[in-house]
Amino acid sequence: MTTYRIGVIGLGQRIAHMLAAMQEVGWNLDLAGYVDPAPVGRPILEAAGIPMGRSFPTPAELMKGGPFDLLMLGAPNHLHFEHLAFALDQGAPIFAEKPIVRTEAETEALAGRLAATGAPPIYVGLVMRSLPIVQEVLARIDGGDLGELVSIDATEHLPPEHGGYLARNWRRRQEWGGSYLLDKVVHDFDVFGRMVGARPARVASFGGRRIFTAERADPPRTWEDGSAAYALRDAGWAGANDAFQSDMDVTDHQVAIVEYANDVRLSFHANSHTSLTERRWYAAGTEGTLIADLVRNKLMVRRALFRGRPEKIEYGGVTADAHNGADQAMAQDLLAALEGRAAFPVSPYESMEAGLTVMAIDRAMEGRQVVDCGPMWARYDAARSGVGEQRLADEVL
Ligand SMILES: NC(=O)c1ccc[n+]([C@@H]2O[C@H](COP(=O)([O-])OP(=O)(O)OC[C@H]3O[C@@H](n4cnc5c(N)ncnc54)[C@H](O)[C@@H]3O)[C@@H](O)[C@H]2O)c1
Repeated sequence: MTTYRIGVIGLGQRIAHMLAAMQEVGWNLDLAGYVDPAPVGRPILEAAGIPMGRSFPTPAELMKGGPFDLLMLGAPNHLHFEHLAFALDQGAPIFAEKPIVRTEAETEALAGRLAATGAPPIYVGLVMRSLPIVQEVLARIDGGDLGELVSIDATEHLPPEHGGYLARNWRRRQEWGGSYLLDKVVHDFDVFGRMVGARPARVASFGGRRIFTAERADPPRTWEDGSAAYALRDAGWAGANDAFQSDMDVTDHQVAIVEYANDVRLSFHANSHTSLTERRWYAAGTEGTLIADLVRNKLMVRRALFRGRPEKIEYGGVTADAHNGADQAMAQDLLAALEGRAAFPVSPYESMEAGLTVMAIDRAMEGRQVVDCGPMWARYDAARSGVGEQRLADEVL
C-alpha cells in the first residue's frame, strides 16, 4: 500500500485529529514536514503515536522537504486564501479546511484562479458530507421521498463549554475567523444548498452578542458540582483568557432566513450557549417530511398521507466530539479520491458557494436589511469564467 508523504501548513487540533482519523482507518502516512509557529495539534498527534516530522519556517521552505503526495491546510481562516494560493502552485493534491476562504473577494479570486488551467485537486473538509446520515438525507430528497422540497427549519445549538471556547479562541474575531456562522455552520449551509438544488436569492438575518459580553453582571462561572466552567481547553493560537472579557466581535447567537432561487424557504437558529444541545434539520416536502437529528445521529421520515409510525434510522456511533465518526468517514473518502476510486463528496465550487451564502447572511445582519444575492452570484460566476482574475488576485494579495 502506498505511503503518503504529507506536508502540513497549520498543524492545529483539526489537522491533528484528521491525521489520527486517517491512520485509524488504515492510511499509511508519513507526516514529513509542517509549517506552524506553535502547533496546537502536537498532543493529539502524540496521543495517536504519529511522529511530528520536520518543522519548516515558511511554506516555501516546506517544499524543500518534498515532494509531497498531499498538502494539508489547517491554519486559522484568515490564512486560508494565502495558503491555498501558494499550494495551488505546487501541484500536489490539497486537503483544505473549511471555510475554504474567509471573504467574498477571496472567493472571487480563488474562483478565478481555479478557472485557469493546471490546478491540482482540492478536497475541502466539509466533513458532514461524509456522514452516512447526511448521505441518506440527500438520497431521500434526490429519490423523491419528500416530493418537492418546500421548506426547511434548521438549528445548531452548542453547549456552554463549546461557546466559551469560541469566545476565547481565534474564532472570536472577524479578522481571523470570519464570523460565528462562517466558521461553525458553513457545513450546514453547504448541505442545505445541495438539498435544495438552488442558490439563495434573498437572505435576512439578525444576531448579536448577549452571552459572552463584559456587560453581563457577574455571569455564573461554576458547574453544579463547583468545577470551573468555560475552561474546557487551552484557547490556542491568539487565544484570550476569559470568555466574558475578551475582544470578541462575532455573534454568539444568530437567526437567518433564506429564500432560494427555486422558492424553497429556510429558517436557521444558532446559539453558542445552550443546555439542550441540538443540530437538527427539519425538511418538509409536498409528499413527506424528514427530521435529521445530527447530535443523536437519528433520522426520521414519514410520507405526508401515512398515519403509521414514521420510519426511524439510528446510526449510532455518537461521539463526545459531536463528529459521530465523520472524520473517519472523510478520511476514507479522501483516500478513495486520491486513489481514483470515487469522487470526493464535495467540490471546491460547492464549498465556495456555501461560504458565499453565509457571507451574504452576515452582510444582511450587519446592514439590517434583506440582501439580494443576485449581484454576488454574478460576480462569482464572472470570476469562475475567468473574467477579472488578475484584478481580484491583485486586490486580495
Ligand atoms: N471540518 C471540521 O469539522 C473542522 C473542525 C474544526 C476546525 N476546522 C477548521 O480547521 C482550521 C483550524 O482549526 P483548529 O480548530 O485546528 O484551530 P487551532 O487553533 O487548533 O489550530 C490552528 C493552527 O494554525 C497555526 N497557525 C497560526 N498561524 C499560522 C501560520 N501563519 N502558518 C501556519 N500555521 C499557523 C496555529 O499555531 C495553530 O496550531 C480552521 O479553518 C477551522 O475552521 C474544521
